Amino acid sequence: MRTQTSSINYPPGPTQKLPLVLFLNFLRDPIGVLIDTSKYGDISHFKFGTQHIYFLNHPDYIRDVLVTHNANFIKSRGLQLAKKVLGDGLLTSEGNLHRNQRQLIQPVFHQDRLTPYAAIMTECILRMSNRWRNNDTLDVHKEFMLLTLDVVCKTLFNFDIESEAKEIGKHVTTLVEYFNRARMPLAELIEKLPLPSNRRFQYAKKQLDAIIYRMIDGTSIGKRNDLRQHDRHVDLISILVEHKNVNYDNGCYVFSNLQLRDNIMTIFLAGHETVANALTWTFYLLSQNKREEGKLQDEVDSILDNDGAPTAADIPKLEFTEKVFAESMRLYPPAWAVGRQAIHDYKIGEYTIPAGSTLLMSQYLMHRDPRFFPEPERFNPERWNSETKANLPRFSYFPFGGGPRACIGEPFAWIEGILSIATIARRWKMKLEPGHPIVLQPLVTLRPKYGMRMKLIRRNV
Ligand code: HEM
Repeated sequence: MRTQTSSINYPPGPTQKLPLVLFLNFLRDPIGVLIDTSKYGDISHFKFGTQHIYFLNHPDYIRDVLVTHNANFIKSRGLQLAKKVLGDGLLTSEGNLHRNQRQLIQPVFHQDRLTPYAAIMTECILRMSNRWRNNDTLDVHKEFMLLTLDVVCKTLFNFDIESEAKEIGKHVTTLVEYFNRARMPLAELIEKLPLPSNRRFQYAKKQLDAIIYRMIDGTSIGKRNDLRQHDRHVDLISILVEHKNVNYDNGCYVFSNLQLRDNIMTIFLAGHETVANALTWTFYLLSQNKREEGKLQDEVDSILDNDGAPTAADIPKLEFTEKVFAESMRLYPPAWAVGRQAIHDYKIGEYTIPAGSTLLMSQYLMHRDPRFFPEPERFNPERWNSETKANLPRFSYFPFGGGPRACIGEPFAWIEGILSIATIARRWKMKLEPGHPIVLQPLVTLRPKYGMRMKLIRRNV
């Protein structure tokens, strides 16, 4: 039941007099607006037009929404637009459909299943590294976008995209840009206009759909099946296609062709830009922190063989590398905020949040909260010792979200992140191009607005 508007006790927050100004400010600088809003307390409130937004900035409140009372929430409205590309895949579906799909896909991301992926990931990383030349200056963000796309395609789709990588990468980028544009005011109107950007979007979607349907039919343009030679390598498409083809009499869940398409598209998009951003920020932070860069080099030099290629067995030994990755995602969380919409009125602290309101929670702000992270602005991988980890409240650090909608790819991302950092740090040092501007671009993920131009210096190892 909805509470009567007149009796609602709203938490404090930025002035509600000029909601349009606030909205425009939010589009321009969402993190800045949330930083200002957080000054009102752990629960604050503002309005975008008629929409009430509650900003929660305490680990306990975040845990309650994402885990304890998750059944009272659905994903927020922004995601409805994402459905135009992702359909009803894992990221965008709700209720039983989400539960069934999650159950089916989850085993693919089980730690044991992922071990054979390590060798394939390292192959992809080395392929990129072998293309690099000493003293070249490159936008490493672009490089990492290609790398992570390559990794997802080879491991999860068993599909070698080398010849099409640039083409697929271009289409995927067009779709990601569409998501970002979808957050603009009047996006739904703009979308209906015959603009070149809209035509590019439709074209990219059509091309990717065609590739995905060919993957499903097993008549793909790439070299599907070759990678089956890798020990126990079972890819996501094979598992999903099996579920499509098996005729269940016992009421078990079966995927339609369209659902297969939606989930493959979801993994295409969710599985690569996040990791690419995390790697980009990691090498930026290392370039600015010589001591930590040196420690990382010492670790990889002592653990990795002369060919500098780590295996799955090396991952547990790469302890400092893991801390570097964790600390980088603390300062620059690739998913910088999550949103939910209340289905029913929801009591939190002294406030009742009316059904239909949006709740926002930000990894970027929580991860820099001095109540939980001393010297929060400092890049300090050492803080991730076992004592600190044991004492941190669960949702003070949540780069992968939590609860039933937590990131399904988290174990995959850790393996890919650690292997990439170790392989690259063993062979290369990176120096930020002098004068290159570092500006946050918090779109769907937290990107560097102007890319990341780095000079590559080959290490003599
Ligand atoms: C550093 C890398 C990554 C970060 C920081 C990240 C972050 C997140 C977060 C925060 C969510 C939850 C969003 C919410 O609660 O609204 C999420 C969901 C999801 N992620 Fe990731 N992700 C990463 C990598 C990956 C990878 C590698 C894959 C797949 C290969 C993936 C696939 C997904 C999917 C399918 C969902 C939706 C899960 C569901 O709703 O059941 N992610 N991710």
